[in-house]
Amino acid sequence: MSKVTVIGAGNVGATVANVLAHRDFVNEIVLIDIMGNFAAGKALDTWQQAPIDYYSSKLKGSDNYEDTANSDVVVITAGIPRKPGMSRDDLISTNAGIVVSCVKNVLKYTKEPIIIIVSNPLDVMTHAAFKAAGLPAAKVMGMAGILDTARYRAFLATELGVSPKDIQAILMGGHGDTMVPLPRYTTVAGIPVTELIAADKLDAIVQRTKTGGGELVQLMGTSAWYAPGAAAAQMVEAILKDEDRIFPVCAKTEGKYGLDMFLGVPVKLGKGGIKQIIELQLNEDEKALLTASANAVKEVNDVFDGMNLV
Ligand code: LAC
Repeated sequence: MSKVTVIGAGNVGATVANVLAHRDFVNEIVLIDIMGNFAAGKALDTWQQAPIDYYSSKLKGSDNYEDTANSDVVVITAGIPRKPGMSRDDLISTNAGIVVSCVKNVLKYTKEPIIIIVSNPLDVMTHAAFKAAGLPAAKVMGMAGILDTARYRAFLATELGVSPKDIQAILMGGHGDTMVPLPRYTTVAGIPVTELIAADKLDAIVQRTKTGGGELVQLMGTSAWYAPGAAAAQMVEAILKDEDRIFPVCAKTEGKYGLDMFLGVPVKLGKGGIKQIIELQLNEDEKALLTASANAVKEVNDVFDGMNLV
């Protein structure tokens, strides 16, 4: 038996539930939202899709945390999204309180869930959830790297005219404009990407990736949900199926890369959460970019710590 709770039934949360249902490996999916009827409606709509798309995961939506009892994994998407002109960091004053209260409510009914944060500013909200939860570091993580890497891979697929399936990449750092795509670790079916693309084109794709979330906010007036929701669902799948997948995840670095903070790093994800943090041998340029990204996240962590919410 496996049970997954998704907190927040907005665009991202509803997409996580919908993608999970389609993958058909979770017995029970619970969608929670302060607007309880809304969560109930989203869950019912996804359940009514089951006879068409063939899945059996049971779905329930409510505003009652009792329904989350004994969840294996809890995905927190609650909070406000960006509007054009806002940075993710601008969301902290509203989202910090929301994320902390979601974590506290979850822990009333489940002793040791694995928590995946999706709310922004991502790295800081993961730091906040860790402090609020008091759970082992392996069980608290944030979703950003899979999304950011997917954007990078999608842009490369378009530029090279190849399937996105064949592009492998890793990306590190915070989920913000200082994120660190790593062309040295990017391949197309095993071929180093640098052999297939001109340096200026690759640079432009790296830049576009860094502001990839903002590009969508500009286009839609709110932030993205299909790729973010699918990315969070992929983390849930790796954990519950004990797949030992290697993904960039916002994790507590615990001394790796000379840092102890929540930041995007390559990890091994499987049963129990983060099984290992993989330490790449970064060159001097990459190290400098990672340090800059870590410093940008630390500044906002300090703002959160100053709010005295936990
Ligand atoms: C984005 C939001 C989810 O990058 O942070 O689209």
